[in-house]
Amino acid sequence: MTPTGVRIAGVGHHVPQRVLTNADLEQMFDTSDEWITSRTGMKERHIAADGEPTSEIAVAAARKAIASAGLEPKDLDCIIVATVTPDYVFPATACIVGSKLGVPGTPAFDIEIACSGFIYGLTVAASMVRTGVFKRVLLIGAEELSRIMNYEDRSTAVLFGDGAGAVVLEASAVDSFLGAELGADGSDPKNLYIEVGGTASPPICAGDIEGKRNKVVMNGREVFRFAVTKMIEATNVALDRAGVSPRDVAWLIPHQANRRIIDAAAKHLDLPSDRVIVNIERYGNTSAASIPMALSETVEAGKLKDGDVVLFVGFGGGLSWGAVAWRWTGDVQASRNGKVASAGTQS
Ligand code: ACO
Repeated sequence: MTPTGVRIAGVGHHVPQRVLTNADLEQMFDTSDEWITSRTGMKERHIAADGEPTSEIAVAAARKAIASAGLEPKDLDCIIVATVTPDYVFPATACIVGSKLGVPGTPAFDIEIACSGFIYGLTVAASMVRTGVFKRVLLIGAEELSRIMNYEDRSTAVLFGDGAGAVVLEASAVDSFLGAELGADGSDPKNLYIEVGGTASPPICAGDIEGKRNKVVMNGREVFRFAVTKMIEATNVALDRAGVSPRDVAWLIPHQANRRIIDAAAKHLDLPSDRVIVNIERYGNTSAASIPMALSETVEAGKLKDGDVVLFVGFGGGLSWGAVAWRWTGDVQASRNGKVASAGTQS
């Protein structure tokens, strides 16, 4: 196996049509637009329709990413879906996505590490490309968190939404992967978890459903404290491994969990707000989808320039955390228009 470089060749995102606004939530329980906006930065989130499983929105985002890379599904060597809201407990949603893309037979697997899913997935996928195992990997973060929300619990229901973001990673003469830091601590899984449905508890019964024990429970204050600390630590280590100084970071693309957490990470890096990508007001927290969705919108807006250092950072259930320092190479917009991408793409 010949070590090579990796680059992001294509990006795309997709959200379901239905929008759930803060005003809608005000009708559902005791909350207010003012509370939600000031505590989280969120204004609205998208909600999947009945009969629109995670694989559907994943495929929609994937098709855009594949087209953006100037490729077809048959060009993919592997499909990874990061999600905690799979179509089924098993098989992996990635297998279903592969078939829906018309490429059954392509290796496919899921990564289940909650909101850190894209960061973990990017590290795994980049490693596979850099070591020559695969030449092109489709990585999707896709979530339908509305399906696992307790809409009687105002402390969690306001936070989460549905969506999907995808990237195509491709072997390249120039290496975009600069450095990463991943971490996890499962000593207290109950800080953010679903109580029933797994093997640690008896099979789900009617009382569990009535008591909403099959829905997300979170210790918000604890997760908040952990998030700020770990985002900063992970950022420091990833940049150190990359040999990049914080002042060389052109863009921070963080997990969109809470505006206040993002602001704390940006302050640590001393980054002006126009270098921090925030779309939380329109989507809420879409877990593993939030970073690739934000990346896709940033590329669409034409903000990323060849050579820019992008820092992806996230945290979530596990508890888990991670950061990846990435040098943006190639003109993804150009390849979307059918032109040949720059930065030494291998054919
Ligand atoms: N509307 C109005 N009041 C509310 C709401 C709401 N939606 N939710 C909670 N409150 C109330 C609480 O009941 C509490 O009232 P009390 O003081 O009378 O008890 C008060 O607001 C303050 O509650 P806190 O929990 O202290 O509020 P806080 O400022 O910590 O904000 C929040 C809560 C937004 C959840 C914050 O803690 C947070 O963002 N934590 C991190 C969550 C996170 O990032 N989770 C995602 C992890 S990623 C993953 O893997 C899925």
